[in-house]
Amino acid sequence: MSGRAKVIVVGNEKGGAGKSTVSTHVAVALLHEGARVGVVDLDLRQRSTDHFFANRLAWTKAQGVDLPHPDVLDARDEAELSKALAADVHFIIVDTPGADTLLSRVAHQAADLVVTPMNDSFVDFDMLGVVDPLSLTVVKPSLYAEAVWEAKKQAAVVRRESMDWVVLRNRLASSEPRNRKRVDERIATLARRVGFRPVAGLRDRVIYRELFPFGLTVSDLSAKVRPVPVSFAHVSARQELRTLLQDMDLVSAPAEA
Ligand SMILES: Nc1ncnc2c1ncn2[C@@H]1O[C@H](COP(=O)(O)OP(=O)(O)O)[C@@H](O)[C@H]1O
Ligand SMILES: [Mg+2]
Repeated sequence: MSGRAKVIVVGNEKGGAGKSTVSTHVAVALLHEGARVGVVDLDLRQRSTDHFFANRLAWTKAQGVDLPHPDVLDARDEAELSKALAADVHFIIVDTPGADTLLSRVAHQAADLVVTPMNDSFVDFDMLGVVDPLSLTVVKPSLYAEAVWEAKKQAAVVRRESMDWVVLRNRLASSEPRNRKRVDERIATLARRVGFRPVAGLRDRVIYRELFPFGLTVSDLSAKVRPVPVSFAHVSARQELRTLLQDMDLVSAPAEA
């Protein structure tokens, strides 16, 4: 392979927003597209993504099933991170901790695409922007939003490349249309101010968490790979992931039948 891998950094400075869920699901979906994928877990405390792929190796080995695996790349310091980012793959997915760390910053500055999942509520909105408590208007971008904006400028000036930033709502519940609409409006305002693209998100679904111990995602399920009973809801989950990949400009083909 030649050419630099596309670096996808999954970040925000809040724990529990869905960074590791998005990292593992996007990585596995890309593997099933036939891509070579490298993963870097910068959350050295939780190591959810590393654990997920270790589970995947153990499970596939124990079951004797053949599934694609990514290159799991270590990055405990800056030198290891630059080496990882130069890996000979199509995509590198970097999962980051819910805190501002040096390595996370370096990764953001090397990103071609930053993906920010956020929980569907005003509580998590402040990770992107400060909202006036009375009028609920957007007062200013958050520190994280400013950091990504800086990384974006750097990409343009230093690397002469454009960096894309998408924000997706995670754990969407169908029961809160009013809150959702208000969050939607604020996100649209902030998107214009700080330059990200809001994309359709992921619903809250059991299937996004119950396969973790096997190191599998809904994209892996088949007649041979079925550690949980397969239901119709899984088709919707796959479709939702497919849409996410398309919105992230990672695949262009029309949705699977
Ligand atoms: N769309 C979703 N549906 C159901 N559970 C989810 C979803 N997204 C995340 N979770 C669960 O929420 C928790 C936090 O998600 P995680 O991806 O670990 O967040 P982060 O990496 O940002 O800290 C985990 O238990 C995960 O399984
Ligand atoms: Mg995580």
